[in-house]
Amino acid sequence: MKKISSKDWLIVAALAALIVFLSMGAGKGKGKNVPVDDRHKPLYEAIKSGRTQAETELVCATCHGPSSLPLPKDHPPKEQCLICHVLGDYSYQESDRGAQK
Ligand code: HEC
Ligand code: HEC
Repeated sequence: MKKISSKDWLIVAALAALIVFLSMGAGKGKGKNVPVDDRHKPLYEAIKSGRTQAETELVCATCHGPSSLPLPKDHPPKEQCLICHVLGDYSYQESDRGAQK
């Protein structure tokens, strides 16, 4: 078998750096996940009960609007909140409900 030369290692290192770079780039431009808290719980419920994403996004504006909770100044000018702010892992709410039964 051919011995791995230092030049080969350089290529491996370059590829590794590229992968890291690309995976960082993929997460860029997205905000944080929608928090899983009491304020945002109804939104998780709405999506679960079959509401469309568009309907649910209208609700975001009732709180995250210019009057109450303005978005950051450099916020991307987009209405489809849920494309960037993913509804995170809801599973712990499920177990909460199990406990209430
Ligand atoms: C009932 C009012 C209310 C609604 C509706 C609401 N939010 Fe929020 N949101 C808040 C408040 C208050 C905060 C800040 C405190 C907190 O984290 O709960 C917040 C925080 C956030 C944050 C920032 C979390 C962080 O870690 O800084 C994001 C992102 C967010 N909301 C997205 C959304 C999206 C997307 C929707 C619609 C699907 C939505 N919110 C609907 C009240 C609301
Ligand atoms: C194109 C992607 C995109 C869309 C669409 C989008 N956001 Fe954001 N949002 C971001 C990014 C990126 C940040 C962080 C920007 C910053 O720190 O200035 C952010 C930040 C926020 C924050 C502040 C909390 C934090 O993460 O620092 C809130 C609240 C928020 N967005 C709510 C919303 C709501 C509500 C909508 C729908 C009206 C929405 N966003 C649509 C990308 C998006």
